[in-house]
Amino acid sequence: MLVRKLALFSLLLTVTGLVYSHGDVTPQAVDVSTLPKLGDTMLDKNPFEGNKEAIRIGASAYNQNCARCHGLEVISGGIAPDLRKLNMDCEGLANPKKKAQCIGDMDVYFRNSVLGGKVVDGRVYMPSFAAVFSQEAIWAIRSYIETRKYDE
Ligand code: HEC
Repeated sequence: MLVRKLALFSLLLTVTGLVYSHGDVTPQAVDVSTLPKLGDTMLDKNPFEGNKEAIRIGASAYNQNCARCHGLEVISGGIAPDLRKLNMDCEGLANPKKKAQCIGDMDVYFRNSVLGGKVVDGRVYMPSFAAVFSQEAIWAIRSYIETRKYDE
């Protein structure tokens, strides 16, 4: 437990240092005008998976908003989790129905992480993007990250 606390503490120091060194941490709005409109009701499944335009927008939105913590091209330097690993447990599933269900669960987890941010013991490890991101922006970033495979 103590070890975990210490690890979290040093992680926080690193994240704080990184945030300061990168100056502006205000979430940047994402132009999604070229994507189909999804409405206000949050979807539970990424509707843009494999959509080229969504991937293009997602790559730029990722670089502006996520890369400083999660790493350029989604290769984590260890400060924040490596997001290429999110689907790893699903990809090994042989049953296509179970695999789709697993990726759907990760879609929801991803969406909720971006909307809510990550707060540990009252400290903000990751800001909430709920005020600036439409769901189109969230799914575009998810679609981009899904093109980045851990074992490539
Ligand atoms: C200020 C640094 C920071 C920024 C900016 C940031 N994150 Fe994070 N993110 C973190 C940290 C640290 C964690 C791990 C928190 C924890 O241990 O609970 C995390 C966790 C996550 C998780 C859960 C990962 C897992 O394996 O459980 C997702 C998904 C995620 N971030 C997506 C994003 C996306 C997408 C963006 C950009 C829109 C973003 N983050 C921006 C620091 C950041």
